[in-house]
Amino acid sequence: MPAIVVVGAQWGDEGKGKAADQLGQRANMVVKFNGGNNAGHTVKVGGDTFALHLVPTGILAKDCIALIGNGVVVDPEALFSELDTLQSRGVDTSNLRVAATAHVITSYHRLFDGIVEKALGDKRIGTTGRGIGPTYEAKVARNSVRIQDIFHPDVLRERVEAGVFQKNLVLRGLGLDEISVDEVVAELSSYADRLRPMVVDGPLLVNQALDAGKTVVFEGGQATMLDIDHGTYPYVTSSNGTAGGACTGAGVGPTRIDRVVAVIKAYTTRVGEGPFPTELDGEEGEWLRKAGGEYGVTTGRPRRTGWYDAVVARYAARVNGVTDFVMTKLDVLTGLEKIPVCVAYDVNGTRVDEVPADAADFAVAKPIYEYANGWTEDISGARTFADLPKNAQKYVRWLEEISGARFSIIGVGADRDAVIVIHDLVEE
Ligand code: GDP
Ligand code: IMO
Ligand code: MG
Repeated sequence: MPAIVVVGAQWGDEGKGKAADQLGQRANMVVKFNGGNNAGHTVKVGGDTFALHLVPTGILAKDCIALIGNGVVVDPEALFSELDTLQSRGVDTSNLRVAATAHVITSYHRLFDGIVEKALGDKRIGTTGRGIGPTYEAKVARNSVRIQDIFHPDVLRERVEAGVFQKNLVLRGLGLDEISVDEVVAELSSYADRLRPMVVDGPLLVNQALDAGKTVVFEGGQATMLDIDHGTYPYVTSSNGTAGGACTGAGVGPTRIDRVVAVIKAYTTRVGEGPFPTELDGEEGEWLRKAGGEYGVTTGRPRRTGWYDAVVARYAARVNGVTDFVMTKLDVLTGLEKIPVCVAYDVNGTRVDEVPADAADFAVAKPIYEYANGWTEDISGARTFADLPKNAQKYVRWLEEISGARFSIIGVGADRDAVIVIHDLVEE
């Protein structure tokens, strides 16, 4: 299986980092294809916990190229700081590569992320504040800076002038200090020497690897329900974290993808604002947050929590063309007597089996629950499906039936090895 895409099925933080890391250990290349340092991917190896943001998980694997693809927005300062942290912990970062056509997050994109969120008040998106949205906006508006521009002083100045011009119109109107082109050019130029050895023709590198029969993992950031096209717009991120994003964000054709793996929690979480039909408030929500350790890796914000939503799972299966689900955090549900699962929605008195295309309907969708029997046995040591208590087996099989694709790996703990492999994602 040379080309495997890994995406999130829900609202992020499903455990994509762990899944990509496991696959990455048997891959020659891991490519991040969307988003930026808004992502927080956790990998636990023995006693060590790594939180990766901009750097692909492949950096933790031996002899594996970790490529930041053209679809990613790169904050060089954040990149260097993440590399410094990894190096200080003994990780060899010499296999990190950055696509020359990736776009650059600058200080003024970060500034505008803050200004816009503040101005929106209670209508804010609840962004991570990393400048992600403003940079993708600039990319689409054709006034952004790309990694390659940093090495051409004249082009760089032209690109910065184009971007700063519009921002200064706004700042002037608000009576705020204007951005200095000279300062931005100086800041970006200062990154050139450290960046230069990492910069490559990303799409060429990936396609050459695939031509040579190498195994390439495409690591998605964010998730299906946060996708700019398929998520709960406008409460989304500004890129395509769905499987199609792997093609545009890494520069490979759809015909090259062999497998699409969607990572899904045994329940649901969300950070930031926006609709969430199975959300729990009060004690149950707090219990799930504590049991699952649901606090953001990037911002530290408490995550909103709720039950498994099979309507969302089926939607993710459809828009990503999912071949396999990786279910994570089954262990967190241990001890519950009954486990509610959302099988459909009630939208203004009508039963609906699919995610409504109309956001107004999704906003009022109420979960219709069915219930599974729980289990009390500790399952963190289970390594085969048969090791699971009967009720846990039934829970997994039932969800598999109603979620639209087979469940190939079940997570029973945070550690790299705490998994039950039902189908081998590389070999089968
Ligand atoms: P990502 O953004 O999708 O990579 O996910 P995050 O790293 O933000 O959040 C997932 C959290 O769940 C991390 O703290 C992981 O260590 C943890 N995790 C992943 N899989 C499992 C699992 O099967 N069981 C438990 N208990 N924790 C898990
Ligand atoms: P990983 O890859 C969870 C959310 C933010 C906010 C919205 C827009 O770790 O799953 P942005 O800063 O991207 O403009 O914020 O998207 N968000 C995430 N939520 N996991 C993530 O990444 C996220 N990346 C962005 O909370 O609601
Ligand atoms: Mg995360």
